[in-house]
Amino acid sequence: MTISQAGSPGFPVPKMSASHQHRADDGAAAGATPDLAGIRVQRIAGYLGAGIEGLRLGEASDGIIAVLRSALLEHQVLFMRGQDLDHAAHVAFARRWGEITRRPPPHRGVFPEGFPEILTVDPQAEHDLFGLDFEGRYRGRWTSCDAGWHTDLTPAVNPPSVSILRAEAVPSFGGDTQWASLTAAYDGLSAPLQDLACELRAEHAFFAGCQMIAHDELDARVLAVNREHPLACVHPVVRVIPETGKRALFVNPASVSRIMGVSAAESRHLLGLFFEEATRPEYTVRHQWRAGDVAIWDNRVTAHLSPGDAPAGERRRLHRVTIMGDRPVGPDGFTSEAVAGDPFYPLSPEGE
Ligand SMILES: [Fe+2]
Repeated sequence: MTISQAGSPGFPVPKMSASHQHRADDGAAAGATPDLAGIRVQRIAGYLGAGIEGLRLGEASDGIIAVLRSALLEHQVLFMRGQDLDHAAHVAFARRWGEITRRPPPHRGVFPEGFPEILTVDPQAEHDLFGLDFEGRYRGRWTSCDAGWHTDLTPAVNPPSVSILRAEAVPSFGGDTQWASLTAAYDGLSAPLQDLACELRAEHAFFAGCQMIAHDELDARVLAVNREHPLACVHPVVRVIPETGKRALFVNPASVSRIMGVSAAESRHLLGLFFEEATRPEYTVRHQWRAGDVAIWDNRVTAHLSPGDAPAGERRRLHRVTIMGDRPVGPDGFTSEAVAGDPFYPLSPEGE
């Protein structure tokens, strides 16, 4: 897509060059806002990912936010080094993208005291709070090597539109995050398979990519929580992005449990094919974190993975805020439907 195709009442964007590298102040003579001067957008990988330089997110003007929205539509994931936001600045920056949402209790997870808008990603913090590292435990239960690939919170009928992740502490090596373009995945399918995918719907639920053992005590407790507070929905396998008209192969190995309306065996084969396409190495970009970095991604058109290669004993602590999203809509107009649980809702300023 080009930036000039983008724009909707809920997602305003300015007109920008569609080139892979440009300076926002190059457009000053054409009417660009003067306070955009100095921002540089540098494409990183073939299908997604751009580094943004020359801005302080905590001081961003409305014009800068508009440039970032535009860049996000084009590049799908943005990386900004050395921002050093604290929790309050992170939340304040996130609120400029829309209303904040996140998993409701009891699925809420770890968050910093006083900042329920944030989800903290930190195995050590989970261990301190729950007595074990959930991610580490369930990484060992993945039913396939690609089962860590996910799009944030797709068991919700209205998954977040945007995720904003910042690094507080990172290991001396490893611990990267990797993103894949689901629009590239759709575009990469052959025409007959694109047509088939456009007709299909998929059920999304937590732990779809994990082996859960009913007689295991901890698994039984996790399953009980999910039974008492279920969250599952049916999304179109292909979703259309309103601002661009682009189509994304909206499936992910971690949370898609089955294709609807086909046999279990057929579902397994179809999902294997779609997952393989969605996680092809050439459709990915990888970020090597430094403390203070921020990544912003369009959660409607990407999946991501924590490869899990951080060295044991070194801290890896990141914080994520997610922005309210719409119900996905397929090419035939099918709109996602809840199977169990309520749609996500915006958090109030008090975080409730
Ligand atoms: Fe995630």
